[in-house]
Amino acid sequence: MAKPKKVFRCSSCGFTHPQWMGRCTQCGLWNTMEEDFIEEEKNISARMSNQTRPVALHEITTRDSSRRECGITELDRVLGGGVVEGSFVLIGGDPGIGKSTLMLQMADKLGSLRMNVLYVSGEESAPQLKMRAQRLGTATESIMVYPEVVLERIRDEIEALKTEVVIIDSIQSIFSGSLDAPPGSVSQIRHCAGMLMEIAKGKGVTVFIVGHVTKDGWIAGPKMLEHMVDTVLSFEGDNTGAYRIVRTVKNRFGTSGEIGVFEMKADGLSEVKDPSAIFIHGLGGEVPGSAVMATCEGSRAFVVEVQALVSRTTFSMPRRIAMGSDPSRLTVLLAVLEKRAGIFLAQSDIVVNIAGGFKVTEPAVDLALVMAVASSAFDKPVPKGTVFIGEIGLSGELRPVSHMESRIREARKMGFTQAIIPEANRDTLSQHKGIDLVARDHVKAALTILI
Ligand code: TYD
Ligand code: MG
Repeated sequence: MAKPKKVFRCSSCGFTHPQWMGRCTQCGLWNTMEEDFIEEEKNISARMSNQTRPVALHEITTRDSSRRECGITELDRVLGGGVVEGSFVLIGGDPGIGKSTLMLQMADKLGSLRMNVLYVSGEESAPQLKMRAQRLGTATESIMVYPEVVLERIRDEIEALKTEVVIIDSIQSIFSGSLDAPPGSVSQIRHCAGMLMEIAKGKGVTVFIVGHVTKDGWIAGPKMLEHMVDTVLSFEGDNTGAYRIVRTVKNRFGTSGEIGVFEMKADGLSEVKDPSAIFIHGLGGEVPGSAVMATCEGSRAFVVEVQALVSRTTFSMPRRIAMGSDPSRLTVLLAVLEKRAGIFLAQSDIVVNIAGGFKVTEPAVDLALVMAVASSAFDKPVPKGTVFIGEIGLSGELRPVSHMESRIREARKMGFTQAIIPEANRDTLSQHKGIDLVARDHVKAALTILI
């Protein structure tokens, strides 16, 4: 066996160099070069031995039966409609947010479908896992638990047990004996993920890997990990609150941007089938500084409450805080309010928040944000039962947003009776009974609803 050669590899772009550099000459990022080992020649000749030939696209056959619903609807949705055989899924999130809990609940469901599940725990001992399983009330007998960190042994057990689904909790805790690098290092993660991918693709085993998230929100380890896997799920929500959101960041087997909503209870994560009900209280319009919008995530729409607090500043530089929405977007919107609608807030501290710990990043929230801010500034509530949907352009014009039909349907379902929408969306909408559609073309016109 050829001796592995030591190189330095950029954790961002994967560029390798024989010497360490402060800055990667390929992608220009600083402090990304990390020690790595590569095996030359041997790998290449091994790969060349199982040579394939090009195939005509229309001749390729697929099997439909390769997707299994695990029965946790919210999880099935983010996976694109169920667990795909031989898929490689990465699930990331902050510590304590519920990754292990969700994986064990899924293992339980798959086990009850008579699938062979292997739960590899590199972080918790078998008794700890058992205690969690007791809290969750897992009942199946087909889950095997394996507290092991050496990848080669895990691979052998996967084969010996005829495992169909393997859960690796977590990728940072396991390591391969063929590398000198410590567990959790870039080269270990990359090597282990590569080997697990071979198991997934070669043997048709579905592999779930749990990944930790670093301080700045990225899944720890090389960005390459996200390129290698088929699906990336990310856990959101703060772990002090009860609600957790699992978002599809990438999915080769379905749409990305889907979300699944869960509530952490004493007996594990339970599904929230109707997210609208948890993000709003009543129909709005009771207090100043609150406006409801209908947002769209993947294939589903739901209503969320945007709150704002405008108060006179005691600082020379007023403070702007955005929780759950983009802070720079807020700055832009405040500038638009001043320039295009004549509302001056330069002497005010402004805090905006999306209720329920939810994050809304789409621009369709603009109108609701502006309405909440104006409502707080004028100390006047918005009319009861009104939703605000629309993007605001730099000249104050209301721009159309996508999926308006399903947003309106959801708002009506929740009992809202009026929707302020962009003029340009009007024509494309069908008639909706029970909800008045008020079309406006400019933010100034939309603000008149407060007067
Ligand atoms: P865990 O799934 O271990 O998080 P992760 O693997 O992402 O680090 O646990 C998440 C938290 O949830 C933990 O602080 C305890 C809590 N919890 C419950 O409230 N109810 C439960 O039934 C379980 C299993 C955990
Ligand atoms: Mg865990």
